[in-house]
Amino acid sequence: MSSYLVTGGAGFIGSHLVEELVRRGHSVRVADNLSTGKRRNLAHIPGVELLEGDLAEMPFAARAVHGIEYVLHQAAIPSVPRSVKDPITSNRANVDGTLNILVAARDAGVKRLVFAGSSSEYGDTPTLPKTEDMPSSPLSPYALQKVVGTEYCRMFTRLYGFETVVIRYFNVFGPRQDPGSPYSGVISLFAAALIEGRQPTIYGDGEQTRDFTYVANVVDGVLRACTAPKAAGEAINVACGTRISLNELLRVMNTVVGSKVQAIYKEPRAGDVRDSQADITKARTLLGYTPIVGLEEGLRHTLAWCRTESQKLEVKR
Ligand code: UD1
Repeated sequence: MSSYLVTGGAGFIGSHLVEELVRRGHSVRVADNLSTGKRRNLAHIPGVELLEGDLAEMPFAARAVHGIEYVLHQAAIPSVPRSVKDPITSNRANVDGTLNILVAARDAGVKRLVFAGSSSEYGDTPTLPKTEDMPSSPLSPYALQKVVGTEYCRMFTRLYGFETVVIRYFNVFGPRQDPGSPYSGVISLFAAALIEGRQPTIYGDGEQTRDFTYVANVVDGVLRACTAPKAAGEAINVACGTRISLNELLRVMNTVVGSKVQAIYKEPRAGDVRDSQADITKARTLLGYTPIVGLEEGLRHTLAWCRTESQKLEVKR
C-alpha cells in the first residue's frame, strides 16, 4: 500500500484516479478547492481524505503533501476558452498552483509527481501525429500554462533530481465530465444535448479532428507513470493514437443513442486547434501502455451514465 495525493481529485479525471487507487488498496488524499470539482464525485468512494483549499497558497500545498509518496497533480482550470477570457485566474491555478506543489512535494521527500499535461501544448503545427519531441506552440493562455507546468516538471527533475513525469492528455471524456458549462468538453455537451433531444453546437465546419480518449485509458497511463523505471523527467502522450472529426463524432453518438439530431453551426472558437492526434509509441515503450477502451465503447459508457444522471434530475423535479 502506498500513499497518494490527487490534486483536483474531486474533478472529472481526478475522481477516476482516486476510485482506481482506492480499488487497488492505496491510501488516498484529495486536495481540491471545489471550483470545478464536486464532493459528490467522491461520495461513492470509501476512505478518501478530502482537504479543501487552494494550491496557489503555499501553506496549503505544504499541508497537502505531508506524508505522501506519490502526487498526481490534476488540479487546473481546464478550459481553452475560459483561459482566453480570463488568463489571470487560470494562470494562478495552472502555473502558481503547479510551482507550489512541485516545491512542496520536493521538500517533503515525495517519490514522484505526475503532472497532467495537455495536447494543446503542441498547438497548430501541421505534422500529425504529434510526437513528444516536437516543439511546443501554444495558441491560448491555457496551452501556454500547460507548457510552463511541463517545463517546470522537467526542470525539477534535472535541477533538483526530483522525479516528475508529464502525462499529456488528449481530449479525455467519460462519466462525471460535467456538461454544465459552455466550457465543458465537447463530448459531454453533445451527450447532454442528444439525451435531452436538443441540437448540439459545432464551432466551425465540424471538420476539426481530435484524438478522443476514454478516461480509463488515462487512469491506466497515469498509474503506470508513477512507477515506470525510465519515465522520470519525460513528457509522454497518453491517448488512443487515432482522430475523428466532430461531424463524424456526432454521427457515431447519434447511432449509439438511436437519435438523428443535427448540429447548429457557429463561428469557430478563438484559440482552437484544427487537428490533434497523438503518437503513442513512447507510452507503449516507457509505460507498457496500450489503450484499453476504444471510442465507441467509451461513448456507450458515457452516454449510459448521462442517461442515468438525467433520469435522477427528472426524479428530483
Ligand atoms: C483542449 C486540449 C486538451 C485539453 C482541453 C481542456 C487541444 C487539441 N486539446 O481541448 O488537451 O485538455 O482543451 O479543456 O487543444 N466544440 C464544439 N461544440 C461545443 C464544444 C466544443 O464544436 O459545444 C469544439 C471546439 O471548438 C473544439 C472541439 O470541439 O474544436 C473540442 O473542444 P473541447 O472539448 O473544448 O476541447 P479542446 O479545446 O480540443
